Amino acid sequence: MPEIRIEENGLETAEKLEKELNKSNLGNKEQKIIMQVENLSKTYSQGKILVHALRCACITVRKGELLAIMGPSGSGKSTLLALIGTLEKATDGKVILDGIDLTSVPEKLLPRVRREKIGFIFQHYNLIPTLSALENVELSMRFSRVPKKEREERARKLLEELGLGDRLSHKPSELSGGEQQRVSIARALANKPAVILADEPTGEVDSKTRDSIVRVFKELSEKGQTILVVTHDPEVAKECSRVLRITDGVIKDN
Ligand SMILES: Nc1ncnc2c1ncn2[C@@H]1O[C@H](COP(=O)(O)OP(=O)(O)O)[C@@H](O)[C@H]1O
Ligand SMILES: [Mg+2]
Repeated sequence: MPEIRIEENGLETAEKLEKELNKSNLGNKEQKIIMQVENLSKTYSQGKILVHALRCACITVRKGELLAIMGPSGSGKSTLLALIGTLEKATDGKVILDGIDLTSVPEKLLPRVRREKIGFIFQHYNLIPTLSALENVELSMRFSRVPKKEREERARKLLEELGLGDRLSHKPSELSGGEQQRVSIARALANKPAVILADEPTGEVDSKTRDSIVRVFKELSEKGQTILVVTHDPEVAKECSRVLRITDGVIKDN
């Protein structure tokens, strides 16, 4: 009897082990965690008044996710993106992105980490008005060690992929809102970031342009690009792989 029990246990253990191995193999291939937000908090103080803009956010993001963040105005959406993007300092908590603890990167190295690991897309595009589409995209690579010729080539290729091959030398004022946003997407992609942070990227465009921007996001996500998109628009959210809601600085992962 005792011998059989040992054998049964052995079998059970082997099965368990195999299941765990299968799970972790799947994890390696398809579900690599690219970002971990741990107990992230931000409190602004305005004189004696404290504003708890973000309260203990915990979020796990896998590579290639297209993650929507929805919530009413003032709920902390931009604060969350600014903290992840290292544009603001957290009051508490951590952000681990692609193996780097962003919250403990020395001030001096932050611009480089931001440039190499994070792509930003804003509601108002934030392109440089005096530069062409090509120059706007190329500029974002200027501080990387890529030679100028290669930078130009990459900028051209990205813009072509986004359907702007015939708009390379146009200035932002000579482009439609949707085209400007696509230039800013190309710029965000230029340094192959671990994550793209988009704050209301379709807030200023018509529904047709919105749909084309969402389509670009979906294609990028299918190719493995991780994207966090803050949006008010249920039509955008419904195309995303996951939707997180935030209210009064409280966000729930799911
Ligand atoms: N620099 C700041 N100083 C003080 N309070 C701020 C600052 N930035 C944002 N807040 C406050 O934090 C809360 C969340 O703001 P925000 O993240 O911009 O919200 P959302 O993007 O969801 O509209 C709001 O109550 C806002 O007034
Ligand atoms: Mg906002």
